[in-house]
Amino acid sequence: MQILKAKDYEEMSKIACSLLVEHIQKNDFPVLGLATGSTPEKLYSCLIEEYQKGKVSFRNTSTFNLDEYVGLDSREANSYQFYMKEKLFDHIDLPSNQIHLPNGMSPDLEQDCLDYENQIQEVGPIGIQVLGLGLNGHIGFNEPGTPFTSRTHIVDLAQSTRRANARFFSGIEEVPTQAISMGIASIMESRKILLLVSGEEKAEALYQMMNSEVSESFPASILQTHPNVTVIADEPALSKVPVSYGEKSVR
Ligand code: GLP
Repeated sequence: MQILKAKDYEEMSKIACSLLVEHIQKNDFPVLGLATGSTPEKLYSCLIEEYQKGKVSFRNTSTFNLDEYVGLDSREANSYQFYMKEKLFDHIDLPSNQIHLPNGMSPDLEQDCLDYENQIQEVGPIGIQVLGLGLNGHIGFNEPGTPFTSRTHIVDLAQSTRRANARFFSGIEEVPTQAISMGIASIMESRKILLLVSGEEKAEALYQMMNSEVSESFPASILQTHPNVTVIADEPALSKVPVSYGEKSVR
């Protein structure tokens, strides 16, 4: 596991942005796995800037998002479809038929999960999967207890996750109780994983991701076993990680 220590959120986002741009430039048909939440917002604005400067084109890129709430359609501001359009897709030259998100409005959610997984298999493998880190160690919406063998599936959201995400809604009662998430096995098949972590409130989760035994009770711990993980974290997020981890400062 490679640890890149960034000074702050801005620097973390820029490093992630340059790694993604480099990947897109080097590959004829790049496949990206994308995350939502607060953490990758600045990464996406940086990608838009690089596109506007003519440094990168997304014409040949395909994307797979990690997750989507059940019951929110694309017009709802809190759906991840809406988020992705607003924060990235509407501002770059990524063809819409190369964008993939689970469909939380599907009349047959189980079938949608199977279809999504098949699409990942057909278009993939995912070259770089961007991940955020949940306070309870979730990756995507894979909550504690999710089998490491899981594929795209329907998730009952943990109360703590609904509480953490209530800040985007008018109240916790508005936060959906279910989501569709790419499974842990699906995530682990990505060639490279970029885990972005920012802020002191994530320090304990980041410490545990690196130190706890690999266990389904802390889903992100599985990343210890992936052969190509780069963690890009800012100083506050790394505040509980001892120097002996050999984190590499990029400043
Ligand atoms: C959310 C998302 C995850 C995200 C994580 C961290 O609930 N489903 O994909 O990575 O939790 O979110 P944030 O970046 O807002 O802290």
